[in-house]
Amino acid sequence: MSPSDHQHAINTLFSTDDIAERVDALAREIIADEPGDILVVVILKGSFVFAADLIRALERNGASAQVDFVTLSSYGMGTESSGKVNLTHDLSEDVTGRAVLLVDDILESGRTIAFAVETMRERRAASVKTCLLLDKPTQRKVDIEADYVGFTIDPEFVVGYGLDLAKRYRGLPYIGIVQSE
Ligand code: IMP
Ligand code: MG
Repeated sequence: MSPSDHQHAINTLFSTDDIAERVDALAREIIADEPGDILVVVILKGSFVFAADLIRALERNGASAQVDFVTLSSYGMGTESSGKVNLTHDLSEDVTGRAVLLVDDILESGRTIAFAVETMRERRAASVKTCLLLDKPTQRKVDIEADYVGFTIDPEFVVGYGLDLAKRYRGLPYIGIVQSE
């Protein structure tokens, strides 16, 4: 077996074309609400592929977006997040007075995005909006909803388009469900 062979069976949930169409629509929604300069804050690592497509869709649709990165992680190594969110790599931009759009991969418990919103507000961003590629609404532990959602999904484990399973599959050009063995 070559190193690129998959070790899990993965069923496509959203194809490359489904994603491209949805990302373009999201960019148009975002611009309709915020026609001025946007500071896109990418929450690493899972959202980097989505964010790369989203900022290009914003430009294509006439917006001027700047971009910066923050790394957030939950303590603990299990599949269940411990609940405490940790900022492990900070932004280089000052967000004071900026229209911030937080971009993340999956809204699950809500703890990560709630922490990020709170952090941007403490730093006196002019406005804070949230854009999540995927939403698993049944898994929420914190009372928060995203301003923009790519796709709402059942509580299945998904990979691809930036999302990993034990650090693999981030480069798949589609979003797929990992079949349980
Ligand atoms: P929460 O909303 O704070 O629970 O954060 C959800 C985070 O858990 C996401 O940013 C992902 O890093 C991870 N995660 C949740 N579900 C999945 C999945 O189906 N595939 C890959 N990562 C996931
Ligand atoms: Mg994440």
